[in-house]
Amino acid sequence: MAFTPLPTRLVTDRFELTPQEPADAGWLAVLFTTRGRGEVSEAEARERIARMHALTAEHGIGALVLRPRDGGPPVGYAAVVVGRGTVEEPELAYELLPEAHGRGYATEAARAVLDAAHATGRARIWATIRPWNAASLRVAEKLGFRRDHVMTDHDGDLVWFLHEVPAVPGHGGGPAAAGG
Ligand SMILES: CC(C)(COP(=O)(O)OP(=O)(O)OC[C@H]1O[C@@H](n2cnc3c(N)ncnc32)[C@H](O)[C@@H]1OP(=O)(O)O)[C@@H](O)C(=O)NCCC(=O)NCCS
Repeated sequence: MAFTPLPTRLVTDRFELTPQEPADAGWLAVLFTTRGRGEVSEAEARERIARMHALTAEHGIGALVLRPRDGGPPVGYAAVVVGRGTVEEPELAYELLPEAHGRGYATEAARAVLDAAHATGRARIWATIRPWNAASLRVAEKLGFRRDHVMTDHDGDLVWFLHEVPAVPGHGGGPAAAGG
């Protein structure tokens, strides 16, 4: 099934969303470190940026950085990635620096990325969220995701949410494309 690539520039009220660049390694290292799974160096962040670029080249989807239109420094990213899903049914992800939380930024940026993900021809987009992550659960709810099922892995329960739109004409896979 052919999908169009995720755009490399989206604009919302407060952000310009563009791909990660090597110059983002400093604040991304801080962001990755806040996950609490050990210190992530700037060099490691630079490698993750390169891996994300490779995945984007392969799958046509990836991460976009929230760059404030008022000229402030980047505050995080919103992404559509294979993650725990598939190329056909990828997952939405969002992660912001702690000081940027609580201002509606994730919802604003993730909504633009979610819409763009559907516009690539993908009818179903997943989000996988730990049940304790109230802020992320609320973002998913505001975006219109519905709870689908729960799986358990080594870190505990993981709730799978689904955002579905009618199949996009011209992309196959659904009734809207039948007959060409
Ligand atoms: C999840 C995350 C991206 C949300 O970013 P954000 O910009 O603060 O999100 P928004 O402001 O758009 O929306 C957050 C919502 O959660 C609510 N919320 C935040 N903390 C909450 C809590 N402890 N309990 C209940 N609701 C909470 C906010 O009130 C807001 O809802 P509202 O608009 O109805 O008031 C941010 O917390 C983050 O980066 N967390 C760490 C990374 C992460 O967990 N990513 C998701 C992985 S699944």
